[in-house]
Amino acid sequence: MPAKHKSVELLKLNNGFSIPNVALGTWKASPDDCYNAVMTALKTGYRHIDTARIYRNEVSVGRAVNDFLRQSDVKREDLFITTKISPYEFQDPENAILASLERLQLDYVDLYLMHHCVAEVTGEGITPRDENGYRKHISPEVFSYVDAYRLLQKLINKGYTRSIGICNINVPKIQRLLETKDLIPPAVVQCEIHPYLPQHELVEFCKANNVVVEAYSPLGSTGAPLLHDPVIVEVAQKYGVTPACVALSWAVARGTVVLPKSTTAERIKDNISLIELDDSDVSLIGNIYKRMTKRYLESKWKINVYESDADFRPPT
Ligand code: A2P
Repeated sequence: MPAKHKSVELLKLNNGFSIPNVALGTWKASPDDCYNAVMTALKTGYRHIDTARIYRNEVSVGRAVNDFLRQSDVKREDLFITTKISPYEFQDPENAILASLERLQLDYVDLYLMHHCVAEVTGEGITPRDENGYRKHISPEVFSYVDAYRLLQKLINKGYTRSIGICNINVPKIQRLLETKDLIPPAVVQCEIHPYLPQHELVEFCKANNVVVEAYSPLGSTGAPLLHDPVIVEVAQKYGVTPACVALSWAVARGTVVLPKSTTAERIKDNISLIELDDSDVSLIGNIYKRMTKRYLESKWKINVYESDADFRPPT
């Protein structure tokens, strides 16, 4: 069956800005690889790059973005750059974003995301851990993700970021942000989402509440295990495209932004060339989780930061 190609689309955020629905993810990209990957991506047509303080590659992202802007006719406002505040920085977001902007060599980012829904102790390094390897968090009763978000929103008026949002969150916690009177709604939430963890409830809830959802690890993270799933392979054969193209096209068909990570030039190019999937294939892939459910990324926290995902049910 001939595949119908689909261009990258701009999705409207609830604050009037727009976000390209495909981004280059940069987690685990070493500084040198990251520079080359971002440069390849921008030259290929990506306009959205996703990094984070914790990835330790903001300097490379910034160098590639600024070199690309100097070498091309593309303007800064045509790009969408996201970085994330680490939990150990939650109590002082202004200094955190100024440090990120310094590393990125940018005047502002388009999106500044809280990397988790729990704060970590400050002053003990980038991921402070106890003797058993658990991340050292601050009790939410003392300083909660809502307290952090309240501080974060001040960065918009200061011009350091255009939008804010939050990662690794679930429906009740998003609801709490939306219902708290003195908070602006998050423009974006970013979570692990792929056919083995489709998070249907979260995606529907956010759609109904005008919050854009970003899907990280859309291929199952390191080694891209999703690409061996028999249903993904079968759908790829039907359209004559790669399994990666199917997994990413499915994410986009559901209305999410998708953040494939790659440092391989050919894959970076492949990952932005998406297709229209039939509704029946979107639903076929959306039901894979009934056979196989898996979360690939879990950090060692003493409290459950991922609780109550309605879709995260181990296979019976
Ligand atoms: P690499 O960076 O060496 O190209 P995710 O986006 O789910 O986090 O997955 C990232 C992993 O998937 C990385 O190991 C990356 O490898 C690999 N990957 C990314 N794009 C593709 C692709 N089109 N085909 C196969 N593997 C891919």
